[in-house]
Amino acid sequence: MADIAERYDIPKQHFWLHGPRSRRPVEYDADAGMWNVYGYPELQEILGDPATFSSDTMRLVPKDLIPGGDEFSMAGFITQIDPPEHGKLRKLVSHAFTRKVVADLEPRIAALTHELLDAAHDRGKLELVTDLAYPLPVIVIAELLGVPGGDRALFKQWADALFQRDTKISLAKPAEQQNVDLQATLKPWKEMSAYLAGHAAERRRQPRADLLTKLVEAEVDGERLPDDQVVNFAIILLLAGHITTTMLLGNTVLCLDAFPEQQDKVRADRASIPAVIEESLRLFTPFAALGRATTRDVELGGVTIPADHMVMCWLGAANRDPRQFPDPDVFDPGRDPNPHLAFGRGIHFCLGAPLARLEGRVALDILLDRVNPLRTDPDDPVKFMPTPTMTGVRRLPLT
Ligand code: HEM
Repeated sequence: MADIAERYDIPKQHFWLHGPRSRRPVEYDADAGMWNVYGYPELQEILGDPATFSSDTMRLVPKDLIPGGDEFSMAGFITQIDPPEHGKLRKLVSHAFTRKVVADLEPRIAALTHELLDAAHDRGKLELVTDLAYPLPVIVIAELLGVPGGDRALFKQWADALFQRDTKISLAKPAEQQNVDLQATLKPWKEMSAYLAGHAAERRRQPRADLLTKLVEAEVDGERLPDDQVVNFAIILLLAGHITTTMLLGNTVLCLDAFPEQQDKVRADRASIPAVIEESLRLFTPFAALGRATTRDVELGGVTIPADHMVMCWLGAANRDPRQFPDPDVFDPGRDPNPHLAFGRGIHFCLGAPLARLEGRVALDILLDRVNPLRTDPDDPVKFMPTPTMTGVRRLPLT
């Protein structure tokens, strides 16, 4: 893997954090005041036990480290909610993500992929992220939600402001000793909330056949979702719906560049595309880490994690745990089964996984038809996301 890191100039932090072989499966980071978990079986244990490893991590973060402090509402933020409330909210949105709703999107995804590649073709150069991997999932999720795909420059601005910075928060130090620019996060967050609140209010007045209308009309225990919950849920869908899928598409093409023999194989056997996508998710896990908060003292991997501690669950490391995946640094779509944790596991398993997999499959199939070979441009370097929690290319020029 070191040769790949060097070849594509991948920032070191992605690798030293994700290489579990040199580390213990569970370690305390005194500087950050958090526990890191790198091992596959240990993560299985965590993700299967939401009573001990709660998703409500914000309660451990001091108010003066939260952008907006008290005015910041986490209501409706499904990834932060524990049972039993989590199950109610999840049921509500699962209706919008049925297999049929997702499968029906296939022709639209294919048409969009062709449109975007045509535009790049006319310009004579293909930068995979800007030309396809970013706009495709963002247009799809925007159309599903019912907000204009044409506003995607705005979404990108917000997403970049939230995720392109490598901000490290420590729970072991007082806020004033930390270099955290809360305003930089608060501003895009407020703008995004106002934008989605405007669209939600419009749907209450005038329902349409879109997901935002479903959310404003949805009821939990006979009550409609309050505005802040609708807005926060829509934010999660808008953000989760594209950033990770952008990384998936870019990373998959990078893997096929790094392992050209696998590119030949998948060209010859398109039925293996889903396996290529799964292996890309394992090797370059887009959403590399999740947070959990312990509710009691718990023994894990031979150590005791005390109650009320933050636990960083490094999915990207567990997906390379040699106890689970032999030759973990090799891109081998032939792994069967491939029980990677890229979409999480348990009650919070990614709601959008079928959509992400469909977008990956359709886009890769068309790319293989239209671009032969898929090869990075040796004169124009690949760029990687700076944050260790996000494993993904953000610039991928092709020849
Ligand atoms: C949850 C990854 C695409 C919506 C998650 C989780 C992971 C994940 C790891 C678990 C979070 C946790 O346990 O705390 C990914 C990856 C994607 C992807 C790697 C693409 C390659 C999508 C898409 C959507 C989406 C396309 C929506 C359209 C969600 C939602 C949750 C979630 C709503 C929360 C589920 C819950 O808390 O019950 N995702 N995701 N994701 N994802 Fe995705």
